[in-house]
Amino acid sequence: MKKFKRHLITSALPYANGPIHIGHLAGVYVPSDIYTRYLRMRGEDVISICGSDEHGVPITLKARREGITPQEVVDRYHELNKKAFADFGIAFDIYSRTSNSIHYETASEFFRKLYDQGEFIEKTSSQYYDEEAGCFLADRYITGTCPHCGNENAYGDQCEKCGTSLSPTDLIKPRSTISGSAPVMRDTLHWYLPLDRYEPWIRKWILDDHTEWKTNVYGQCKSWLDQGLQPRAVSRDLDWGVPVPVEGAEGKVLYVWFDAPIGYISATRELTPDWEKYWKDPETRMIHFIGKDNIVFHCIIFPAMLKAEGSYILPDNVPANEFLNLENDKISTSRNWAVWLHEYLLDFPGKQDSLRYALCASAPETKDNDFTWKEFQARNNNELVAILGNFVNRTLVLTNNYYNGEVPAPGEMTDYDRETVSSIMTCRQNVESNLEAFRFRQALAEAMNLARLGNKYLADTEPWKVIRTDPDRVKTIMYVSLQITANLAILLEPFLPFSMDKLRGWLGITGRHWNEAGRSDLLAPGHVVSAGELMFSRVEDAEIDRQIKKLLDTRKANEKSEAEAAPQKEDVTFDEFTRMDIRTATILEAEKVPKTTKLIKLKVDTGIDVRTIVSGIAEHFTAEELPGKSISVIVNLAPRMIKGIESKGMVLLAEDEKGKLVFMVPEEKIKNGSPIK
Ligand code: 2FM
Ligand code: ZN
Repeated sequence: MKKFKRHLITSALPYANGPIHIGHLAGVYVPSDIYTRYLRMRGEDVISICGSDEHGVPITLKARREGITPQEVVDRYHELNKKAFADFGIAFDIYSRTSNSIHYETASEFFRKLYDQGEFIEKTSSQYYDEEAGCFLADRYITGTCPHCGNENAYGDQCEKCGTSLSPTDLIKPRSTISGSAPVMRDTLHWYLPLDRYEPWIRKWILDDHTEWKTNVYGQCKSWLDQGLQPRAVSRDLDWGVPVPVEGAEGKVLYVWFDAPIGYISATRELTPDWEKYWKDPETRMIHFIGKDNIVFHCIIFPAMLKAEGSYILPDNVPANEFLNLENDKISTSRNWAVWLHEYLLDFPGKQDSLRYALCASAPETKDNDFTWKEFQARNNNELVAILGNFVNRTLVLTNNYYNGEVPAPGEMTDYDRETVSSIMTCRQNVESNLEAFRFRQALAEAMNLARLGNKYLADTEPWKVIRTDPDRVKTIMYVSLQITANLAILLEPFLPFSMDKLRGWLGITGRHWNEAGRSDLLAPGHVVSAGELMFSRVEDAEIDRQIKKLLDTRKANEKSEAEAAPQKEDVTFDEFTRMDIRTATILEAEKVPKTTKLIKLKVDTGIDVRTIVSGIAEHFTAEELPGKSISVIVNLAPRMIKGIESKGMVLLAEDEKGKLVFMVPEEKIKNGSPIK
């Protein structure tokens, strides 16, 4: 790997509209912190940058819902999140924010430079406008029905039910989030970054020059590039954000995804007057730590902005993680399905490293992964307590019992001692190579192998027995065990900073240069160590049961609110209603449509005729149970081809609380063809 002079580590700026949860920590901030600590221990020049992303529509929507200003929303979460990171030892050099003046200045200058260089396309287009509220409806200010899955509450930029990216005009029956009214189209001017213009060099830069990027990142970039890049609007009609710094742009702000990554630059400017060397010297290695939903912005759009500006370096790597789920369900702020850091600390005070450990040990590095409380308990009790804590504790206690804490001088080493000592260096190399490849799970497992090795060494050499027959031999055993312990204090520091800080205190060492790891003379004979205390305590079943119950209560509350009736749809006139011809009918025959999971082909007697209707009910009824059933049918629904079958009409069904479909039928059996009015 090329040797760089310095490192600039950025971690995705979290939106300041909610607290930080374990998904954030596992995906972005634990890995970035481990990596930063590792580089610092190597004596590298490194800065770690983060802060709050304080613009964007979700923030203004939240402010509107709560009847407060967007600034009040971001002030609340900025402070909460800054503290949560500090509490978990995420050691940023700065935790800045994008609502501060240095950011406004930096983002405006950046835009202005691209504008002056003619990098933007200026284009007027028709966009949705809310006449009642008197404003354009950017991004999440517009909702409607998703054309892909029928979700009636899809947003103008994305359907959260099926995950499809949308543009506002894709929505069926769009409505304003502000007033609920149907929007009209109105012309508006915006600035676009012509990504298509940069496509050839981005393609080469990623697909040819960065084949070492993680496969999930490389793959997502390739798929974007293969679809062809399009110009992207970098401004919005909103009143919260960095104003577009050109004349005639009143009421327009920079798109949040244009200003947010510039937040990394502003934060560096805030941190040091020497900021330019981190951003403009090709001898700086820039690494972006992010979650998978941010890949396109950090690998394609931000690099295009940096390159267009002309004086900045590009990221050398973007080790994005996939997502962490919680107890088999997607983590969701709005459904309160999460473990919030500030709440965890109240329930498990002083146990930050236990969470850091569990999240790193099962981080979603190559695919989505699941966090369960039972696994957290097992990691804490069976690994931290039983392997690491146990080894360190036995070593320190025995040293205190036998030698009053003084490191003994070793005697002659056996082959087994020499083998054990040389494994320490192998272990360091394994941790290091995995850290450098951003494989943090494996790096942690390798470091823990040293504690395993220590336990095996003690179990094999049995100093507590040998002390009675050969006390000189025990001096060598304890010397080797102490060197393993001192190495653990170095190798595990990036992962478990709180516990290793304690351990260094017990060992009476301050120096912790990474390059010291692997050595077997870190603690000189005569140096004094203390007996320490227990490094980790067990997590009991009752504590885990309480957490699981908390989640079950959340699930119940969510189910209850989801079961509440959906909001009433828009009004229809009486005339519109009477145009629908609904009749009672009877199913004569039913057969499953081959190669589909949901569809059943029905032959139905409508009283007018016998016709075919295809209905999506196969997950609720078998074809065998249907013949003879009374149903209601909209008979004048225009015929549609479904899987090559002409379907003439629609069967009326309702959904019960459990999501099961039931037929809508008259209370008493009446003849087929009776109109329902
Ligand atoms: O996805 C998010 O949470 C964004 N706020 C991340 C922004 S990263 C950077 F560009 F600022
Ligand atoms: Zn959808």
